[in-house]
Amino acid sequence: MPYTRTEAAREFARWSENYDRSILQRLLFGPSHRAIIGRLRGRLPGRPWTLLDVGCGTGVFASRVKDAFPEVEVWGVDLAPEMIRMGRERWMSLPGEFRPVQGDSERLPFATGSFDVVTCSNSFHHYPHQERAVAEIRRVLRPGGRLILIDGYRDSWWGWLIYDVCVAGVEGEVHHASARRFRELFRAAGLVETAQEVHGGPAPFLLTEGSAPPDEPTRPASREDATLVGVGAGVDRYGESR
Ligand SMILES: C[S@@+](CC[C@H](N)C(=O)[O-])C[C@H]1O[C@@H](n2cnc3c(N)ncnc32)[C@H](O)[C@@H]1O
Repeated sequence: MPYTRTEAAREFARWSENYDRSILQRLLFGPSHRAIIGRLRGRLPGRPWTLLDVGCGTGVFASRVKDAFPEVEVWGVDLAPEMIRMGRERWMSLPGEFRPVQGDSERLPFATGSFDVVTCSNSFHHYPHQERAVAEIRRVLRPGGRLILIDGYRDSWWGWLIYDVCVAGVEGEVHHASARRFRELFRAAGLVETAQEVHGGPAPFLLTEGSAPPDEPTRPASREDATLVGVGAGVDRYGESR
């Protein structure tokens, strides 16, 4: 049976308690967050800018981005309210407006053309309809906005063993896309691929970056739209049940 959103949500509800202490923080999540921040340096709009982190988990990446770029307005979206709830203190301790919202990558609760940058790290293999998620991300990007997506690199024999055999054995029918598949997904969504990098190490990962064409008309971003839709499903923006 194919992997579903319900299974992903259940899995991360279970995982949320120990998530911040997992060994993967050191082996995979930390290095991949640094890789995204490295790609952002020196290539930012010359004005205050907005970033959405899709599959934001407990907000570790969002807080690292805020440390590196204090001027950014960071939003996060995650399917599992438990993950948002576990990161509540982190979100609240940071200066400025941090906004975790519960929602699904395939139906992002944000207005078209809302963000300068969308990031997605170590979450994409959980999405049952990956082409829909990329199309949604593309929709919420401003003209010229950038998507930086990281997931496990499964094209080498070592990566295949880790992700397609071990991770899939534990997590179920998750799907780590190949480098070629990422390029196809980006192109199909109308993103111009600007970079693809393999990062080695014990848990190798692949970074793919693309940008939305610079000149298409969108309606202006609306914060209210995002907040109103995002607080649905009985959970407020910090994951507290109402
Ligand atoms: C392994 S964690 C990665 C968290 C974070 N991005 C990081 O790098 O530390 C994957 C996250 O993706 C979320 N997720 C899974 N499926 C999702 C979906 N369809 N939409 C949004 N988030 C999803 C999970 O709830 C979980 O918090």
